[in-house]
Amino acid sequence: MDRKTFFGVMGAGLVGVGGTNRFAGFGGAPRSARVGSIARDPGLAGSPLPRLPEVSGADLTLTAGRMTARVRGGATEVWSYNGQFPAPLIRLRRGDDARIRLVNELDEDTIVHWHGLDVPEQADGHPRFAIGPGEAYDYRFRVADAPGLYWYHPHTHGRTAPQTYMGMAGLLVVDGEEEAALGLPSGEFELGLVLQDKRLAAGGALRYSPEMGPDRMFGYLGDIGTANGVADAQVEVRRGAYRLRIVNGANARIFDLTLGNDLPFTLLGSDGGLLREPVELRRLTLATGERADLLVDFSTLRAGESIMLRSAEFEIPGMMMMGMQGGGRGRGPQGRGGGMGGMHRMNGIPQGGAMDLVEFVVSAEEGPKIELPARLDGSLDAPADPGTVDRTFRFDSRMMQHTINGRSFEMDRIDERIPAGRREVWEFVNDGGFAHPVHVHGGQHRILSREGGRARLLPWERGRKDTALLLPGERIRMAVEFRHTGVFLLHCHNLEHEDAGMMSNFEVVAP
Ligand code: C2O
Ligand code: CU
Ligand code: CU
Repeated sequence: MDRKTFFGVMGAGLVGVGGTNRFAGFGGAPRSARVGSIARDPGLAGSPLPRLPEVSGADLTLTAGRMTARVRGGATEVWSYNGQFPAPLIRLRRGDDARIRLVNELDEDTIVHWHGLDVPEQADGHPRFAIGPGEAYDYRFRVADAPGLYWYHPHTHGRTAPQTYMGMAGLLVVDGEEEAALGLPSGEFELGLVLQDKRLAAGGALRYSPEMGPDRMFGYLGDIGTANGVADAQVEVRRGAYRLRIVNGANARIFDLTLGNDLPFTLLGSDGGLLREPVELRRLTLATGERADLLVDFSTLRAGESIMLRSAEFEIPGMMMMGMQGGGRGRGPQGRGGGMGGMHRMNGIPQGGAMDLVEFVVSAEEGPKIELPARLDGSLDAPADPGTVDRTFRFDSRMMQHTINGRSFEMDRIDERIPAGRREVWEFVNDGGFAHPVHVHGGQHRILSREGGRARLLPWERGRKDTALLLPGERIRMAVEFRHTGVFLLHCHNLEHEDAGMMSNFEVVAP
């Protein structure tokens, strides 16, 4: 396997000391948060960050099955594709005809969904297309999407959360000529990162065992951060520019990404490809399902210095509080990650707790220098909000029920019918106390506005989007337009909410 190792530099394990968050992802007003340094446990050697194995989607077989891998500590069963963990990164070119065969070697049903791609109904991985053990499913679609970072994961009825959690989550990159012309870092300087959080049992065993109560209401929150399947991930980087292509592939965890030393980074793109222009940030909120395409310049750092990519502590105003009963079962993150002040955790680190994800250790070698153009994707306009809402979707979680407009998902019930090719404005409303990353299938959409809560669009929401984080008290308007007819899904990308029925079928009909 293509793993980079760099023993010998580890002694220099200086972890970034954060400062004030100039860019507060939540809230708005600058405030201080404890992004502070966390002493490395000297006995704890990091794990080399696995590089994602790459395959082409032009003619590919993906075999879902069980295998053994290491997340932290001993070996554990994981579920993945093609016997590779982390799952392979699929590369496609715009205009390609993708031919992908899914083979199911699990002992339960599964189906793959290409998150963010605009594909025909039969290729979208709706749960009604799930295949049983030993069966195969053929996907055929023309890649029409803008160059960008997409991803794939199961969409099995009621089993999306456990299957994704056990490791079935992979990146999918669409390449294209206009993007290649920008000369962004590539090859060893382009790093695909699947960020997740996990809960490990004794001996390092990965197990999905949600309990009634908080696991069902907040989602399955882990107590360690992982990158490309491993905890305590470390990667050696040269003193130069890197392109980090990040997906939040967690079940429920929202990451508020920061770099140690408050190192700034440049946002290039979000869910559906490049932004109109690059934006410098120090903090970026990435909810489950969302992607970020970042440029990080390590050239200002000294050889041997190390910088942690981590999720900083944050608060969600209006969020239902985690129960306070006792210390819970969560094992400590062994001196890493962070607590929530005096709050006790029940299972995993509560939403908003700090979590380390990947440590970059800077080598003495020089890396590439990049001159970014002022425009990345000049074709991206700023969509105007016409002020009228065509449909409203209320996301509500209470009493262990997760509903959209008061209803739970039913496989055969169509909740909305929309003519193909018609631009509509959809409004998502959250009057409750939980966070809901709202995801709409059928390609890319544009977020128009947010009222309540954070009350504005964030820099990473200005491009093409398929997922929008809807916090308590917020209303988001999204412009949608569908090309393919057929039945597609709209759902919460908190996978426990989704599996519990916070999902809805809409049918795109011929105009
Ligand atoms: Cu990534 Cu319907 O989901
Ligand atoms: Cu999707
Ligand atoms: Cu939700």
